[in-house]
Amino acid sequence: EQMPLNVTINGVKQNLKIEPRVTLLDLLRERLQLTGTKKGCDHGQCGACTVHIDGQRVNSCLTLAVTTEGKQVTTIEGLAHGEELHPMQQAFLDHDGFQCGYCTPGQIMSAVCCIREGHADSPEEIREYMSGNICRCGAYSNIVDAIMDVKQ
Ligand code: FES
Repeated sequence: EQMPLNVTINGVKQNLKIEPRVTLLDLLRERLQLTGTKKGCDHGQCGACTVHIDGQRVNSCLTLAVTTEGKQVTTIEGLAHGEELHPMQQAFLDHDGFQCGYCTPGQIMSAVCCIREGHADSPEEIREYMSGNICRCGAYSNIVDAIMDVKQ
C-alpha cells in the first residue's frame, strides 16, 4: 500500500505517494531521476549513496524514504548555487579528488559534513571521519587535500 510523503528535496517540495519499503536512494534515483547519488553496495558499506537529511549525512540506501517526512533532503545536485560550484566541488576539481568519479558525489556530501561538524582539524581526523566513503581508485590523499583546502 502506498503512503503519502511530503519532503523537500534540494529546495523543492515533493508531495508523493510511495511504498513504505522504498529506500531514499531508490526514491531519488528511480522516481525522481536524481542519479547523482550513486548505488554502490546498497547495504551501508561504501558511502556512495551519501546525502544530507536536515544537514546531517546519511547513507540513503539504509534510509526508508517515508522517514524523511517533513524533512529537508540535499543531494549532490542541490549543492551548487546555479552555475557556481560549492567550494567543496571546486576543491575536488582543483586537487584531483577522484579518478573514475563513481564515489565522488558521496565523498563530497560527506566532506561537507566533515567540516560542518568540526572533524577537519588534521589529515588523520579527516581520514577517520571519511572512512565510511570507499574509493576503489585510491584517491584518498587528494580527497584529504581537497578538504584541508576548503577548511582553511
Ligand atoms: Fe549505500 Fe553503499 S550504496 S553505503
